Amino acid sequence: MASDKAQNVSANAASLNKLAILTSGGDAPGMNSAVRAATMFARAAGAEVFGARYGYRGLLNADFVPLEVSKVAGIIRDGGTILGSARCPEIHTPDGRETARDNLASHGFDGLLVIGGDGTLTGAEALTNPDEAGEFATRVVGIPASIDNDIGLTGMAIGVDTAMNTIMEACDNIVDTASAFDRTFIVEVMGRRSGYLAMTAGVAAGADAVLFPEARRTEEELVDAVVKAALEATRHEDRPRSALIVKAEGTALSPEQLRERVDERLAKHSESGEPAVETRVTVLGHVVRGGRPSAFDRVVAGRLAHAAVTALFDGETRKMAAWMMPVEPPEEVAERSPADPYCWLVDLEAVLAETLRMQEGTSPLVEWRARIFDDIEDVLMM
Ligand code: F6P
Repeated sequence: MASDKAQNVSANAASLNKLAILTSGGDAPGMNSAVRAATMFARAAGAEVFGARYGYRGLLNADFVPLEVSKVAGIIRDGGTILGSARCPEIHTPDGRETARDNLASHGFDGLLVIGGDGTLTGAEALTNPDEAGEFATRVVGIPASIDNDIGLTGMAIGVDTAMNTIMEACDNIVDTASAFDRTFIVEVMGRRSGYLAMTAGVAAGADAVLFPEARRTEEELVDAVVKAALEATRHEDRPRSALIVKAEGTALSPEQLRERVDERLAKHSESGEPAVETRVTVLGHVVRGGRPSAFDRVVAGRLAHAAVTALFDGETRKMAAWMMPVEPPEEVAERSPADPYCWLVDLEAVLAETLRMQEGTSPLVEWRARIFDDIEDVLMM
């Protein structure tokens, strides 16, 4: 029996009887924290809770496992996702979505919480789109989780903070060895379509230059930036003579291509014909996506889960629970969550439209991020 306090998860609760939760796409540290919090809030308010295994594939295969408190109690500190994740192309087809809707309905789910990035939220929007789904009875709300911080209309996605800290620590280690040899290191971090992680972790690690796709630099300009930082470092006898370059995965040149072209240029600056500065490359890759979630990711995950579950109890659908945004969102697409003043409820369609603008580089937010780096570039090298 739910306690009075738990019933207050929603002041005017429309009933929610049976909730399915899934995690999908690239996993992010803090996904488990969100699963745990959503399970606990929903159960405390009287709903049955199940996990769909391996993202949308769990809906297509009707692969549901009960989520009890004992099952989720300790997972707040675990990276990855206990539900499993997958990229599921079928959910992006009408037939696949019909199967998913049929399975949700026939198993009696009146709520679905999806936790993931762009592909996950795109799936949720299509699954509930009235043009295809009619009046689909299962309500669907999303929570943004992607280390890339590439989801529109949320200030933060789950996983970003942990990934940023992982990169910072890796760079700190790299700088130790770089400084021993006066080398220049190019460190590549994840971020296929977004340089956010490279930018923020680069600043936190004291990088001399940050390369990211949003700056739209030509290949030659990328080489220039690295060469400039490498040569600048060698000019100072009284300061570290190593240089740290943090590069986002989505930047035009691969790390090895970049290193080769930098070496060619650096060779022109030495009499011996050998590069004037030694360069090395480290690709952090999937290391960045794992690990125990930071305190901030756990807290954001818990609060977004609270806002999302409250929304489902309130009868909301086709929404995403969002974290505080740097720019107040248009009121016709977003409202502050009644559960938490730091959280918003945003229309899924608006989220996806802004996400696309971010990918295309036309979002004012992305232009603003690139402008900041333009302004601070010379200061980074000082
Ligand atoms: O989660 C997004 C992301 O981290 C991208 O930055 C990266 O390119 C991609 O995932 C890697 O995905 P996968 O694990 O499928 O190789």
